[in-house]
Amino acid sequence: MLKNKCSWLAITAAMFLSGYTSGQNNAAPAASLKETFKNDFLIGTALNASQIEGKDTRAAALILQQFNAATPENIMKSMIIHPAWDRYDFDLADKLVDYGKKNNIKINGHTLVWHSQLPAFMRNMKDADSVRKFFTDHINTVARRYSGKVFSWDVVNEALNEDGTMRKSIFQQKLGDDFVTEAFRLAQAASPNTELYYNDYNNEQPAKRAGCIALVKKIQAAGVRIDGVGIQGHWQIGKIPLKDIEESILQYAALGLKVHITELDIEVLPRNFQGADVSQRMENNAALNPYKTALPDSVQQQLANDYEALFKLFLKHSDKIDRVTFWGVNDGQSWLNDWPARGRTNYPLLFDREFKPKPAFYKVIATKN
Ligand code: G3I
Repeated sequence: MLKNKCSWLAITAAMFLSGYTSGQNNAAPAASLKETFKNDFLIGTALNASQIEGKDTRAAALILQQFNAATPENIMKSMIIHPAWDRYDFDLADKLVDYGKKNNIKINGHTLVWHSQLPAFMRNMKDADSVRKFFTDHINTVARRYSGKVFSWDVVNEALNEDGTMRKSIFQQKLGDDFVTEAFRLAQAASPNTELYYNDYNNEQPAKRAGCIALVKKIQAAGVRIDGVGIQGHWQIGKIPLKDIEESILQYAALGLKVHITELDIEVLPRNFQGADVSQRMENNAALNPYKTALPDSVQQQLANDYEALFKLFLKHSDKIDRVTFWGVNDGQSWLNDWPARGRTNYPLLFDREFKPKPAFYKVIATKN
């Protein structure tokens, strides 16, 4: 208890010295995440379109100071990169790849195969041959274009249900369970020097983890390359499943896989389910949006403690974890302001709406001391 109080005082002092509490808008944090963890794992962020285009000038400096990996939050999804049957739009993805090269930021392609954010022409496709043609052409074209230019691909995203069975997505329905192995086979041929990952949320939970392990074993048994598993890491305050996360890191590593934490954020607002299934929604109301003007100190402290516990665990297994990516640069830009209820004020990341480091940032940095 005393130790907690002392460390909270130290964090408050560090925040004061760095300008966090002084109301300055441009207070650059004294420490850098990518520097602090440079011998442990890459530190990534999700980038939105305006950040990729350099229009978000306030985010620009912070991104370069803090992160050495980036995942496009939306612009490489098939809806955007493949808007019509015979037309691709590589504009933003090319800009992202150039940005990464220029700034020494490793790009994780997200994502080749996902049942969500599909192009309109795909959504109600009935004919299995057409689905197979879309699937094959899409992977071949996109993975080939960025071969050697992106560091890794989330080849397949969220193919599993919570109980570990296969999700009945359009790909599973029309191509069968083997679509996952097939996606990796195509990606491997199209982009031989890119690391290939299966990415999901809640795949640290025992039943879904077992499904994920079965999926990986199937890919491996087919003689197809899979380099690792992404644990998305959309967790909730006060309920971080540390034991399950640790067990998952160990079990995935035992299969010869690398582990990435790919979409880390911690939800601080009320919610009655866990995970990131974008089809699940709740109606916004006052009770669901309790911190419209500010986050109470006790919640801020809990958030900091949760992030500290996570990073202690990640450091313990840094030999198995290659990358930890936050799902957004600052709180104001997080998808969690609009999901599962629209128009809430959420606080899930390490930087606040003014791009200033939060107490959680300092606790994360302090895990290396
Ligand atoms: O671009 C349109 C804009 O033109 C329109 O006016 C506006 C109106 O709602 O929507 C904009 O599109 C939104 C898009 O994000 C870009 O901001 C979509 O509505 C919105 O649904 C979409 O949300 C994204 C979500 O995936 C979609 O499934 C989130 O930004 C993105 O953070 C989220 O990311 C996913 C990962 O890819 C996979 N894992 C779960 C994670 C969180 O859902």
